[in-house]
Amino acid sequence: MIERNGPCWCGSGQKWKKCHYPKLPEIDLTTQAKRYLKDFGILLKTAEQIEKIRAACKITAQILEQLCQHAKAGVTTLELDELSRKLHKEAGVIPATLGYGKPPYPKTICTSLNEVICHGIPDERPLQEGDIVNIDASCILDGYFGDCSRMVAIGKISHDKQLVMSTSLECLRRAIAVCKPGTPISAIGKAIEDYASTQGCSVVNQFVGHGIGLAFHEPPEVPHHYNNIQIPMAPGMIFTIEPMINAGVREGVIDPDDKWTVRTRDGKPSAQWEHTILITPSGHQVLT
Ligand code: MF3
Ligand code: CO
Repeated sequence: MIERNGPCWCGSGQKWKKCHYPKLPEIDLTTQAKRYLKDFGILLKTAEQIEKIRAACKITAQILEQLCQHAKAGVTTLELDELSRKLHKEAGVIPATLGYGKPPYPKTICTSLNEVICHGIPDERPLQEGDIVNIDASCILDGYFGDCSRMVAIGKISHDKQLVMSTSLECLRRAIAVCKPGTPISAIGKAIEDYASTQGCSVVNQFVGHGIGLAFHEPPEVPHHYNNIQIPMAPGMIFTIEPMINAGVREGVIDPDDKWTVRTRDGKPSAQWEHTILITPSGHQVLT
């Protein structure tokens, strides 16, 4: 039998392990990456790309953390956007939302209050006692993207608001917990909708999590509701999970004037938490 430390069969005089020893994991990963791209349009990230995206995610999370600390009664969401611009500048990153989409999104963060499901635009209204607000930050570092969001409660909040805040966080936690190579994308929606139902909450199905890294939104789509997406998670996949959980009906209505703000159809509260997740060979890492 030929030994790893013995001479290579090719006659080079080098050890087999340094010469023609098969690099199985590498060959596998490349083959798999090609297949994911061809079959699903999904970019499995290389080690170098992962480090860049990790850095972008870390800064995004730090910016979000600071914004949340400043979200207090009396502060307008426009002031939070101004702080966000400053923090992005200081960190040397570009806000991914600014100018994104059609019509171009006008601000550097989304601030979604109370019955707003997502994509709320910062404005002159001061936060007040009893509000809940989602702050969503996403940034670009040297062309690599990170995306995350969190809820803040202003003072004492109603039972329904407390319920959607805690349910959406627990949904995110449970969804992250199922992430590992081989698990189908559909397991995320199942973990979320199974739990939300036990809390009497509904899961928004008009907006989904998404692949991210070299672009803001990449394949795959990551639904938070029951679905049948069989694509198995694989090492190097990076995507967001961002469940939007409502106290009442799941349906949202887009504001006909600004074309962005999405409100619950019944006006009941909604909450959302978001992380960017990397699939690793042994499971997952939260990058934000
Ligand atoms: N985190 C949200 C997303 O993943 C933010 C949307 S930003 C907007 O899509 F510009 F599209 F509003
Ligand atoms: Co996102």
